[in-house]
Amino acid sequence: MSPLPFSLLLRRCRFIDHASSEDLVDIAIQGGQITEIAPQLPQSADQEIDVRGQLVSPPFVESHIHLDSALTAGQPRWNQSGSLFEGIEIWRDRKQTLTLEDVKERAIATLKLQASQGVLFVRTHADVSESTLTALQALLEVRQVVKDWMTLQVVAFPQDGIYSNPKNDVLLEEALARGADAVGGIPHYELTREDGVCSVQRIFELAAKYDRLIDVHCDEIDDDQSRFLEVMAACALRSDLGPRVTASHTTAFGSYNNAYALKLMNFLQRTQMNFIANPLINITLQGRTDTYPKRRGITRVKELWRNGLNVSLGTDCIQDPWYSLGTGNMLEAAAMAVHVCQMTGVDEINACYDMVTTHGAKTLKLLDGYGVEVGKPANLIVLDARDRYDAIRRRATVRYVISQGKLLAQTEPPATQWHGDEM
Ligand code: FE2
Repeated sequence: MSPLPFSLLLRRCRFIDHASSEDLVDIAIQGGQITEIAPQLPQSADQEIDVRGQLVSPPFVESHIHLDSALTAGQPRWNQSGSLFEGIEIWRDRKQTLTLEDVKERAIATLKLQASQGVLFVRTHADVSESTLTALQALLEVRQVVKDWMTLQVVAFPQDGIYSNPKNDVLLEEALARGADAVGGIPHYELTREDGVCSVQRIFELAAKYDRLIDVHCDEIDDDQSRFLEVMAACALRSDLGPRVTASHTTAFGSYNNAYALKLMNFLQRTQMNFIANPLINITLQGRTDTYPKRRGITRVKELWRNGLNVSLGTDCIQDPWYSLGTGNMLEAAAMAVHVCQMTGVDEINACYDMVTTHGAKTLKLLDGYGVEVGKPANLIVLDARDRYDAIRRRATVRYVISQGKLLAQTEPPATQWHGDEM
């Protein structure tokens, strides 16, 4: 008896790029790859799933999260002011008690939570301001543990600044030597503006030396004079590293005057840098010193996107000192962006979906390994939705998660039984 030609066959799929079409296709998977896409494939498979016209999408990409602090909300105390800086103080205390097992356990639990909701690619920051590099080591080990079902990138992130303590620069470089995928920074939290400028230059120097990506927490503050994004842009232009560079948060960009913002936007377009906004957390963290009018505290997502720059969205935090809420559902981040960035036109809503899928893939440099196409690795999700707009509006349930050719997770959407009078 000849072996079945496919290991997994998804029947009657609605492709995200042709969501308005009534044409449904079958997707065949073998050896961890997508081998055929066509209507009504005649072959059979070891496992078949009838998708019944639901939406098939490339997986969600979580482009910005802190797995080392995830699931620690309230430890050792709650953030009463809700500010970024009280969060940093609380985390400074909590991280004294970190162990490898503590970080690994919480990180894996968080990744499973996200994977079950369709996230198969994650970029996490690891705080490397703590002398034992426990968080970094744990997340590098987690990267290896989860590699069969999740692609994880680790950013070496000096949470307390590179120059606030002479040891921090050494720790950052040690993190890269140990294998961190990207070098991070926090120039607006360095002791002086000059230290901030030096920190950005040092980040670019280390990225070139170790051939790593760059992802900097940049200008995550309401101060309209916090202008390290222009320093990143200058370094990106001079080094030619632009597409490998990401500026995360950049919330001060939302407070800049328009004349300066317009000039900066022009520079940014020349860099081809990537941007990550974290709307769930920044709508709650920022604007805390404002009375009224109260700023939204988010970067210029719509304008960056309209000017052709690559913008993706992250959740940033799940139940930690900065954000005690969070479910890891990327559609929540996309929906918040729709609201906070006033991206309510249908093309804008669709773009917010792309910001948690294809745009995130571009930020993470996933290149040819991402997308639902013949010959690509079989990573895809099936949503209980008709199109991108519907998925965001209803925070649609991810019914099936296929990772590297195998069914990884399955969820039933909630079902309501009406017991009231029939009308
Ligand atoms: Fe962050």
